[in-house]
Amino acid sequence: MLNKVAELLKEVESFAAKNIEELEQFRIKMLAKKGAITALMSEFRNVSNEDKKAFGQQINNLKQTTQQKIIALKEQLDQTINSSNKKMDLTRSAEQVQLGARHPISVVRNEILDIFSRIGFMVSEGPEIEDDWHNFSALNFPPEHPARDMQDTFFIEKEVALRTHTSSVQVRVMENQTPPIRTVSPGRVFRNEAISARAHCIFHQVEGLYIDKDVSFADLKQTLMYFAKEMFGEKTEIRLRPSYFPFTEPSAEVDVSCNICSGKGCNVCKHTGFLEIMGCGMVDPNVLENCGIDSSVYTGFAFGMGIERIAMLKYQVNDLRHFFENDLRFLKQFTSAY
Ligand code: PHE
Repeated sequence: MLNKVAELLKEVESFAAKNIEELEQFRIKMLAKKGAITALMSEFRNVSNEDKKAFGQQINNLKQTTQQKIIALKEQLDQTINSSNKKMDLTRSAEQVQLGARHPISVVRNEILDIFSRIGFMVSEGPEIEDDWHNFSALNFPPEHPARDMQDTFFIEKEVALRTHTSSVQVRVMENQTPPIRTVSPGRVFRNEAISARAHCIFHQVEGLYIDKDVSFADLKQTLMYFAKEMFGEKTEIRLRPSYFPFTEPSAEVDVSCNICSGKGCNVCKHTGFLEIMGCGMVDPNVLENCGIDSSVYTGFAFGMGIERIAMLKYQVNDLRHFFENDLRFLKQFTSAY
């Protein structure tokens, strides 16, 4: 009996399998219900009492060795299968690389900056957390002006707030540079407004400033007309309506002819043929003086627009919230050189 165990052990040790099928057959031959090792175990009761212990140990050893051998062989075979699968197929076509795209707000901001840089405007940026001086006081906001109210402005401390416009950057530029100054200031701004299809508490602006000797309202008009035609097309017309801002005098709202109906009148322009795109005006002499610029020598103009608004008009987006939701189906539609 012990001989038989030894014979089987030898067979197990010398066994090699070429493939999974051979290994499976070997497992059945040894370990299945009718296999050789199972058969040996049923001989156990025929073994004399004094041999039982030795036989028991031997047969257990045989069983374990067989099981381990099968596991080891299986691992080996699996590995060779995997590595043969890794062979490269050099004729396969390459996988497509998915390129990302800029966010439409970045695209439009870059386009606006590009249009103004072509006529000599530099780009200036400043902090999103501003003090009262740069956001309000230097810009000629009277102390009791409603825009300072908690309803429009996110205050952090009494004199510190999230900027409500990027005019604050222009104050910093005027304080630190001597005219001539030509600058555009892009950036995020914050206002305590309910979120809707037309408004958001966070949005983006580009504001412009030009200060030099003899800058006139006619220069402002020409600059805005140049911008409108570059942005919305050669046939675009502009219209200025009198308005009020604390930091400009005179002030105006700028409309462009509706790029959907070309001024004929449609739902988007509410049948007026025009769409409002920004505020503008001649820099108030008080603002120049506040920033250390001699208002008897220099004059200037300023303008400011919301990037979301320009993007909505240019791409006919009807809900401002799309720009903040990052839905890929929306974003994928914007690919651009900008
Ligand atoms: N700062 C104004 C705003 O945020 C826009 C503006 C800028 C108006 C410059 C006139 C001149 O609404």
